[in-house]
Amino acid sequence: MAQRAPLVAGNWKMYKTEAQAEEYIQGLLPRVSSVSGVEVAICVPFTDLRAMVDSARGSRVEVYAQNLHQEADGAFTGEVSAPMLAELDVHGVVLGHSERRELFGESDRALAQKVPAALAAGLKPILCVGETEAERDAGDTERKLRQQIAEDLVEVADDELADVVIAYEPIWAIGTGRVAMPEQAQEAVAFIRALIEGRSAEAARRVRILYGGSVKPGNARELLALPDVDGALVGGASLDPASFAEIVTAAVA
Ligand code: PGA
Repeated sequence: MAQRAPLVAGNWKMYKTEAQAEEYIQGLLPRVSSVSGVEVAICVPFTDLRAMVDSARGSRVEVYAQNLHQEADGAFTGEVSAPMLAELDVHGVVLGHSERRELFGESDRALAQKVPAALAAGLKPILCVGETEAERDAGDTERKLRQQIAEDLVEVADDELADVVIAYEPIWAIGTGRVAMPEQAQEAVAFIRALIEGRSAEAARRVRILYGGSVKPGNARELLALPDVDGALVGGASLDPASFAEIVTAAVA
């Protein structure tokens, strides 16, 4: 059995000014400093990155961005590139979150370039995939996951696949309080691992696959104990340092 270190990542979305972020990190660091055996990340707005990298330096908390542009530079008004993030000592980046796909037209074609751009800059990508409620009801969950994994990772070499973290986030569970049943989460995450195995057995053993969607202190332990689930991507419950730290602790319980 490969040992996969669990990762608990908090996705702040468009919350917290720099001052609010500073207050948060001072609340989080003492709560997670003595928890071992789990990686901890906060995925923060661009404007909070520099302050959070500085405040978290030397701690166990890694700082991720929530998007990047696939090109290193160019005439792309309003965009931020992987080398720009890397120079700030940002550790990683969330890519393909369903809010970006649904609200901002993020395409699989762009993601196929964004994931390698992140890896090339030394950033750890968390690639989000997952089905809508209508797709689940139509029995289309596996088709959707197969398509996203195939298209978004097409440019990633087999021996780099395990450097990508995949987050399975059923869209109907995001921000709704409707968490997936443990067996639904396990089934989908195991299916994703099997898809990776189709490319590389070694990568399938090592790749970390998170569950995301209404993870809370009260349900984290059960979800994080599932055999194929290697951590959580947490939205709403990550905004409060105490509840996020409880979820971090649940990952090693
Ligand atoms: P949620 O969000 O935990 O608030 O459901 C999860 C996510 O969007 O990553």
